[in-house]
Parts: sequence; C-alpha cells; structure tokens
Amino acid sequence: MSEPSAAAAGQAPETRLVKIDDGRRIAIRQAGTGVPVLLLHGFPLDHSMWDGQWQLVGPGGLADGAARLIVPDLAGFGGSDGPTSPSIAAMADEVVAILDALGGGEPVVACGLSMGGYVAQHLAARHPARLRGLVLVDTKLEADTPEARAGRVDLSERVGRLGPRIAAEAMVPRLLARGPRPDRSEIETRLRSTIERTSVATIQTALGALGDRPDMTAAAAGFSLPTLLVVGAEDMITPPECLERAAAVIDGAELETIPGCGHMTPMEDPAAFNARLASFLRERIVTATPPAQRQAR
Ligand code: MLT
Repeated sequence: MSEPSAAAAGQAPETRLVKIDDGRRIAIRQAGTGVPVLLLHGFPLDHSMWDGQWQLVGPGGLADGAARLIVPDLAGFGGSDGPTSPSIAAMADEVVAILDALGGGEPVVACGLSMGGYVAQHLAARHPARLRGLVLVDTKLEADTPEARAGRVDLSERVGRLGPRIAAEAMVPRLLARGPRPDRSEIETRLRSTIERTSVATIQTALGALGDRPDMTAAAAGFSLPTLLVVGAEDMITPPECLERAAAVIDGAELETIPGCGHMTPMEDPAAFNARLASFLRERIVTATPPAQRQAR
C-alpha cells in the first residue's frame, strides 16, 4: 500500500484496524513500496515514536521504492485493543498474527526499539522464516538483573496506585541524551502524553513481561539474518556496551553508534537514523539474494 502524501510530509499515514486471529483489533499504519519493514515501538509508547521515519518512503526519500513501512501499536498500546500480550514471546507471536492478518506472507525486516527490540529478537528465535533482516535499536540481549526486576515490580505497584503519569515521571527524564536541544520540550511532551494515555493494565502487564524476559544471548548466537544494531552514544537505559556485546555475538552484525542521542535515537536524530537504516536496507536486504526458507523452531 502506498500513501505518499502523508509520508512525504513526515506524518503518519491513516490508521487501519486489523483483526488478528484471537479477535483483538490492532492499529496499523503502512506506507511505501518494496521490502516490508516492520517498526516495533518501545515501552510504554506507540507508533508515534516512528513519525520521523515516514519521510524515508515519501517521494525522493532515502528508501522510496525500496521499502514499505508497517507500523503497528502492539496490543493494548496506542489505538490497539487489549489485553496486552503477557510475555515478550507472546508479543512476538502477536506480531506474526498481525502479519498474517495483513496477508502476503512475504518475510519482513523486523526493526524494534528497546521493548520492540526484545520482540524482534523473539521473532528471530521463534519465527525465523518470517524475517529477512533484523534491526535492533537501543536494546539489549540480556535479561533484567534482580535489581532491575525489583524496580519494575515497584513501578508497577506505584502505577496501580497513582496512574500512568508515574511511569511518565520515572521514564521521560531518562529517555533523551542530556545535551541541550531546541526541541527537547516538544519531544518530551510527546513522550509524556503517549505514556499518560497508556492504560494501567497495559503498563503493568508489559512491566511483568519485561521483567520476566529471558536472556537471549545464546539464541542470538544462532541468528543467521542480516543484522544492524543501532544505539545512541548517550543511551542511559541500554548503553552502547549492550549493543557492543550483541555485535560480538550476532554473526555479521553491523553496529552504528549515533552521537548526541539517548534511548530514543530514531526520534532524537531521525536524519542519521534514517540514513543508516536506508543504507542497510539497500546494501544488505534489497540487493541480497532472498533468504532460503528457514525452519520455525
Ligand atoms: C523501552 O524503551 O522499551 C524500555 O525502556 C525497555 C526496558 O525497560 O527494558
């Protein structure tokens, strides 16, 4: 599906609701033509964190004619029905149900930020035949430490008592790089309002899923997909060392560290992020031989 005018203006194209096999309606936006590239948002955000990527597929954009962006809100987030899937593995299965509902069956490039990156890793491990490339952004392979898990339990309890604004207060100050930037308050306001619109139930379920997620290091050593790793040089949540460790484990992975960015690299420097994603798509995906069918594990 091509919706060039919205994409050219860098705005999200119109939202469509697709019903997945269990009856949940998922909000999806798509634009562009070419290799399907799935953009998976972080926690507790939605599609709008990828608004700076639509220009990639607008007329004259760096991936114009090369990529079709598919941007869902995971169940319970943004405009999608809940309930939120209870584990990262279940979120990956939900994504497969979304792709099935969209039809076509063509393998996609899965690009996920942070929680979306955990989901993308589980897609690569559970459903490798559905992928033809992997882009992991501001994320990590390792499970939570006991302290991080305890922090999630505490945040979940406080969100239950005081509402989603507590999640915004805890997270927003840590999402962007610290340096001055003219649009800081605009980006922070967008992030805060997305988080505050997310339901308590979704935040609590996702916190449980994040805290329980397994270490994916051993699984990632078996990935055989073209892989790009991107991290903001000043990411406080998943610092560059996380992606450096992933680069050492994932065969043939390319690592890009983007200066001046924190945890929200695609929002903080869309031009640098888009250029790197477009060159990866061009050099490792579009011109590459389609992958042999892989067996689902
Ligand atoms: C995210 O941005 O998705 C979260 O920070 C992920 C996490 O807390 O591990």
